[in-house]
Amino acid sequence: MKKNLNVVGESVLRNDVVEKVLGTAKYIDDYKFDGMLYGFTVRSTISHGKIISINISKAKKINGVVNIFTAKDIPGKNFFPMILNDYPFLAENKVLFYGQPIALVVATNQEIAKEAAKNVFIEYEELEPVLDIHYAMKKNSPKIFGSDNILRKYIIKKGNIDQGFKEADVIVEDVFETNYQVHSYLEPNGMIAVPQPDGGITVYGTMQCPFYVHDAIANILNIYHNKIRVVQTTTGGGFGGKEDVPSLVAGHVALLAYLTKKPVKLVYTREEDFHGMSKRHPGYIEIKYGAKKNGKIVAAKVRYILDGGAFATLSPIVLWRGTVHAVGPYDIPNVLIESFAVATNKVPCGAFRGFGQPQATFANESLIDILAEKLKISPLKLRQINMLKPYSRTATNDKISNSCGFKKVLSEVIKKSKYEKILSKKNENLSTIKTGAGLAIAFYGVGLGAGGKYIDRAGAYLQIQKDGTVIISIGNTELGQGVFTVISQIASEILGAPYEFVKVLQPDTTRVPDSGPTVASRSTLMSGNAVLDAAKQVRERIDTMVLKLFNKSKGKVYSNGKEYFISTNPEKKIHYLEVIKKCFVQRINLSATGWYTGEDVSFDSETGQGKAYYSYTFSATVAIVKVNILTGVVEVKKIVSGHDIGKAINPKLCEAQIEGGVIQSLGYALTENLVLKNGIILNPSFAGYLIPTSMDIPEIIPVIVESKYSKGPFGAKGLGESPMITPSTAIANAIYNATGFRTKKLPVTPEILLELKNKK
Ligand code: MTE
Ligand code: MOS
Repeated sequence: MKKNLNVVGESVLRNDVVEKVLGTAKYIDDYKFDGMLYGFTVRSTISHGKIISINISKAKKINGVVNIFTAKDIPGKNFFPMILNDYPFLAENKVLFYGQPIALVVATNQEIAKEAAKNVFIEYEELEPVLDIHYAMKKNSPKIFGSDNILRKYIIKKGNIDQGFKEADVIVEDVFETNYQVHSYLEPNGMIAVPQPDGGITVYGTMQCPFYVHDAIANILNIYHNKIRVVQTTTGGGFGGKEDVPSLVAGHVALLAYLTKKPVKLVYTREEDFHGMSKRHPGYIEIKYGAKKNGKIVAAKVRYILDGGAFATLSPIVLWRGTVHAVGPYDIPNVLIESFAVATNKVPCGAFRGFGQPQATFANESLIDILAEKLKISPLKLRQINMLKPYSRTATNDKISNSCGFKKVLSEVIKKSKYEKILSKKNENLSTIKTGAGLAIAFYGVGLGAGGKYIDRAGAYLQIQKDGTVIISIGNTELGQGVFTVISQIASEILGAPYEFVKVLQPDTTRVPDSGPTVASRSTLMSGNAVLDAAKQVRERIDTMVLKLFNKSKGKVYSNGKEYFISTNPEKKIHYLEVIKKCFVQRINLSATGWYTGEDVSFDSETGQGKAYYSYTFSATVAIVKVNILTGVVEVKKIVSGHDIGKAINPKLCEAQIEGGVIQSLGYALTENLVLKNGIILNPSFAGYLIPTSMDIPEIIPVIVESKYSKGPFGAKGLGESPMITPSTAIANAIYNATGFRTKKLPVTPEILLELKNKK
């Protein structure tokens, strides 16, 4: 077969691997500037109250303390721009959660700054905290947001819900709950701000969204955007946790640098990061399905509530995604979804890989299994009857396009996992170890969709240098997911330049227009298309030169990745470097800017109907578990996880994304259990908050299906988050199939399993 792509679709070595493996990569805490000072944050020690006084006199006397600042020292606006703009940089009159920043110490080293922070004394008038979403929604609860504590609500109405349930032969309903999840990125949040001679400021740091940080600094300092430069440094993971809150860290450190006129570093300890930074929202989901005897689901109703914590930040968008996907990846004619993000006096929740979907998926994919059992139809068959296919309609009445390889994803996963065989095997009665298999499927709208369509765009700048090497600037950030490698492959493919020649520069707000956030698995699609646009412009000029060198006035130019040739004489080739040299001599412009905007999408706020996203990724996961019913310990033996992503630009990187997502989802299912008392996190460290270790990792079999999206670069959709959505529920379903204990809560700790067993 003729291979028509040179590097796209190949598992080339990722281009950030050498420095990361050798340890020469520099993370924010590795940087130092002359005369640099250190910041530390003074945080609230109560969950809800009025600030009566802030006493800094003792702290200020400590040797090495340069200054201490509070809200009144902010020259600009005291909030960072994020949807409802309700999160202050520094608390003014009241505090709404334990860990909320109140003041900032700046000192000659971090230990002194930390010590001084302990000696800032705050007098509070404590108020009753709202710790529970149900209480928060009651009339008589204290109000910490608006008149009802509701940060955002949505409704989706499709068909006629009452009629739908009337037509149903079987109805199932249940309530599911999920806990917080901590991002557990390798590198805690941190930034350095460096004042500039023109009164401006440059900020370096670990982050997903440099343009959000840019806006935040303009807000707090009240200076123009062209005096601010934000540079992302090599980032030790984000997973959504470095989407909104880096704006807070950057605002703080910019304020300190601006007021002291010195470079300042502010890097969080892990404990601070636990207390102060965003988390995955705890979810509470009431869900009901109605089906005909033959398995066709005719009605679905969901009431979905997220615990938003003290400030809204990203809750409206996380809730929106969760709402759109709340009834699962099924074609259901009658749907009613009502959803709420509710304010409580706890740490504000934000984005986390999957963005409101893992919570909803736990509910709908558990209930599908319950429905299957009641209908006496296999869980697989029930899904096959109802799942989305090309041209079927989602809950928002969005028509699925032909980029839908869902059927293939499911069949491959079923085949590779031997799901049906394991499911049909009965466990021996006397054995304490029970084996089971569980299935969960999902769809995932790629990009920001109708909920954030005005910022779904991206730019790129590309330049071929004298020696033929290429530099590229994009606005999306490398978080470990491999976007720089993917971008290099796309550019290399289009230009005909060897892959090794291409370098993606560290994202910098002065180099590329605002390209939106690095979230919603949008980078390959958005930045990929922007780079494609830029590269195509340059390639056109290269092709003109190649034709000239072949003495042709027209014709199609091909590349084998290092040489160009034309179809009429494929034997004769000209090396890339030779063409570039000629272009330089002839003063051809070998640079271009690229731009991409997402397809139009829409959403009616009254009915929730419309085209929510331009494209969807489809996924299916089977988990095989062994459960010890005496100890309640679950061992995950194997996970097969499949994803239709349009096109794998780099298959190995895609597999790595699937493996990483599966592991995060496994932790979410079994061990990651944040414990709060009176709104205070009791286990703010990895000693008490247990993420999977290498010993807990099962055999993982990633499956990639490529059903091309016509607007995606080489047909690609998006993958980043999809692997985190289904495995946790597949594990929960597997536990049920192994033991007969159905958990309605995540994580399924041994204690919960034993409790279920004792109830039985
Ligand atoms: N993979 C690694 N290694 N590190 C990360 O921080 N973040 C995830 C996912 N995969 C993340 C990751 C999240 S939450 C998102 S939205 C996507 O990557 C973002 O990258 P993409 O747009 O390139 O998919
Ligand atoms: Mo990912 S949660 O969209 O940063």
